[in-house]
Amino acid sequence: MNTSKIGHSDLAVSRINLGGNVFGWTLDEAQSFKILDAFADKGGNFIDTADVYSCWVPANTGGESETIIGKWLKTRRDKDKLVVATKVGWDFGDGVRKGLKPAYIKQAAEASLKRLQVDTIDLYYTHIDTGEVPVEEYLGAYAELIKEGKVRYIAASNVPADRLRYSLELGASGAYPLYQALQPHYNLVERTTYESEYAPIVAQYGLTVFPYWSLASGFLTGKYRSEADLGKSVRGGGVKKYLDAKGLSVLAALDEVAEKHHTSVAAAALAWLLAKPGIGAPIASATSPSQLDTLFAATALTLDAGDVQALDKASQ
Ligand SMILES: NC(=O)c1ccc[n+]([C@@H]2O[C@H](COP(=O)([O-])OP(=O)(O)OC[C@H]3O[C@@H](n4cnc5c(N)ncnc54)[C@H](OP(=O)(O)O)[C@@H]3O)[C@@H](O)[C@H]2O)c1
Repeated sequence: MNTSKIGHSDLAVSRINLGGNVFGWTLDEAQSFKILDAFADKGGNFIDTADVYSCWVPANTGGESETIIGKWLKTRRDKDKLVVATKVGWDFGDGVRKGLKPAYIKQAAEASLKRLQVDTIDLYYTHIDTGEVPVEEYLGAYAELIKEGKVRYIAASNVPADRLRYSLELGASGAYPLYQALQPHYNLVERTTYESEYAPIVAQYGLTVFPYWSLASGFLTGKYRSEADLGKSVRGGGVKKYLDAKGLSVLAALDEVAEKHHTSVAAAALAWLLAKPGIGAPIASATSPSQLDTLFAATALTLDAGDVQALDKASQ
């Protein structure tokens, strides 16, 4: 499988980034191991998680996804080829504000290292920046973690555009570590914020982009076409908002592109992302090996300019 380099780093990753929020949520440990094994055996090497996954499940406290990935990594001989990204800064839903205070970041990184059972976090994301902690303070905490060998590179996820730009200016000056990647909410039914606010920053600083919810939680697989379909997954409720004229027009355009290339709607939706500038790999999760096949099919599919234009138009 072809790979993509992360920013100016020496990390090369598969063009599908496996989403880890389903581990400990819609998949138990044994099912998660099956998906992780299938992903790695097919040549995937990039796994995305966060310290808080999957704290929204009633019996969970957060950390379940990292714990499962950590146990699985122990079973793999090719552990050194795998790149694991995790995140800090999101609340665990326990009523305690976590944020990005330097002391908390250090404590959270130690906890993630322990759960993942590794010495170094390959890529450490700012999960969310709500503006409470000065950028210099939390970039300083990352600098110390990098110096101690506990973090290799850093990246940004839900960081407001002005603070992202400022962070990159600080990083480019050499005084602080530099973000190498951006993880934005970006897909065929969520284009506006990324394309208007973030794409120019990505181009200016050479960030590599890993879009999350790249299948719009399953909507862009085409399996939800009416309210009656929402019961197809426990996640159905989360896609109801896309069942409108625009969402259905995107699905109609995807149907045509998928039919033309003898592929699935999901593969066509991910291939559209892969055709956009700066995209390293879409982040998508799968709950069965056959779903995983559709994610890999996207990496082998090259859309032509007409396909991309048709999808651009339907999703405007
Ligand atoms: N940075 C952030 O703030 C943030 C936020 C959200 C997510 N993320 C990351 O992004 C990753 C991806 O997000 P996500 O997993 O929530 O959503 P997603 O990738 O948009 O949707 C994946 C879901 O779609 C369904 N699916 C996948 N392939 C399919 C196929 N071929 N046919 C039918 N259904 C299929 C599966 O769910 P069912 O089988 O249950 O239907 C799967 O769990 C997460 O795992 C996480 O790592 C990051």
